This record gives sequence, structure tokens and C-alpha cells, in this order.
Amino acid sequence: MSTRATSAGQKPPLYKIVMLGDSGVGKTSLVARLTNPDRPMNHDISATMGIEFDTQMLDTEHGKVKAQIWDTAGQERFARVLLPTYFRKAKGVILVYDITNAKSFESLRERWMTQLNDHASSDDLAKLLVGNKNDLEASREVSKEKAEQFCAEYGMEMLETSAKSGENVLKAFEKLIGIVHNKALEASSRSKGGIRNMNGANDGFKIDGAENKSADANICGC
Ligand code: GTP
Repeated sequence: MSTRATSAGQKPPLYKIVMLGDSGVGKTSLVARLTNPDRPMNHDISATMGIEFDTQMLDTEHGKVKAQIWDTAGQERFARVLLPTYFRKAKGVILVYDITNAKSFESLRERWMTQLNDHASSDDLAKLLVGNKNDLEASREVSKEKAEQFCAEYGMEMLETSAKSGENVLKAFEKLIGIVHNKALEASSRSKGGIRNMNGANDGFKIDGAENKSADANICGC
């Protein structure tokens, strides 16, 4: 996808967001559905073996922004070593569980929130809870009420999605990136440099071991 200039001749800001959650909850499928909505769902999708990222232009109430979406393996043996790289410069996180798998929901509290607090300055990160596979209502193990309690406790919003049907997938990414962008705009208006500092920032960011599916990697580090 190109980074065409916006109205003021500037590139849209680019924000790194990361996907977190147990193996098999559908992180890769959600990113694939967002970046390639017409592709049929691949039920043979293989487990992520390291870190991958993709980029996608998204709309916010304050214009277009580019999301660099990082997807890592939910499997413990990969995640532990990769997480410091994964969280570096991240501005938002999507915490994913599978509504048909209570264990994947419990892991959010027991594992992923701890990892977040250990590796990232959690206050700076915008967070969104996503309950995926809501096309499998008959097999539901996690009620919406339980998820809403979690959100109230940790101060985040939530959506239920289906990477299979596409329901709420774009909405989830747009919601998170909207929060990220608003935070950046607020921070920017507090500093004298203003919004210009967020556009076209390029620190030559380079990722070891990541499969870069995108040609550019200018990250908004504000
Ligand atoms: P790791 O890479 O191991 O961390 O897993 P992941 O969280 O990326 O899960 P992945 O996207 O690989 O999906 C795991 C399985 O769930 C695959 O067989 C997907 O086809 C299936 N799946 C993902 N999302 C959905 C969904 O919304 N509905 C249904 N029915 N199946 C889904």
C-alpha cells in the first residue's frame, strides 16, 4: 500500500499496534481479514512462528492514519523471547481471546496483562479487548458480561469479532487506531511542535527477525 501524501502534502502518521493473545484465538486471521477482506478464510492457517507485520491505512475522525500491525506467536516458547522487540514503540494493543475458549480469556489476566506491564509503559498504550470467533455462538464459553467486567477493571473498551464472517473486524482496528491517534494529537497539542512532529517521522526503525511485509517502516514515536 502506498503512503500517498495527505492534503497538506504530508504522509499520514504511522502507528505501531500489536496483537496479543493465546495461540489459536485468531490474531493472524483478524489481521488477514483486515488487510485482505475478500480473501476466503483459510482454515489451515498455520501457527505464527515469530513476528510478522503488515500495514493498513485506516480512517479516524481526524483523518487517515497508517497502522503497522504486529502479529506474534501466542505460543509461550516464542512469545517470551520476542516480546521486548514486539512492544518497542508500540502505541496500541489488541488483546484477543476466543469466545469459545474460557482458558484464552483467563490467560489475558494471568499472562498477557502481566507481560504488557513488564515490557511496555502500559499507561502510554491504547488498549482494546477483542472477543473473536463470535460466529460460533453455540460454543460460547465467555459471556459478554464477563468481558465487560474485565474492561471496566482495566479501563478499556471491547468488541466481539469474527475473522470468519468479517463482523466488526474493520471496526475493531479503527476503534483502536482512533484512540491511538487522539492520544497522539492530545500529546502533540500539549507540546509546542504540534502535529507536524507526528508526520513523516522516520527513525530508520529496523526489526531483527521480523518478516517485514511492508516496504516502509516510519514509525510515529511520539
Ligand atoms: P498463533 O499464530 O498460534 O498465535 O494463533 P492465532 O491467534 O494467530 O490464530 P489463527 O489466526 O492462526 O487462527 C487459529 C484457528 O482459528 C484457525 O484454524 C482459524 O481458521 C480459526 N479462526 C480464526 N478466527 C476465527 C473466527 O472468527 N471464527 C472461526 N470459526 N474460526 C476462526
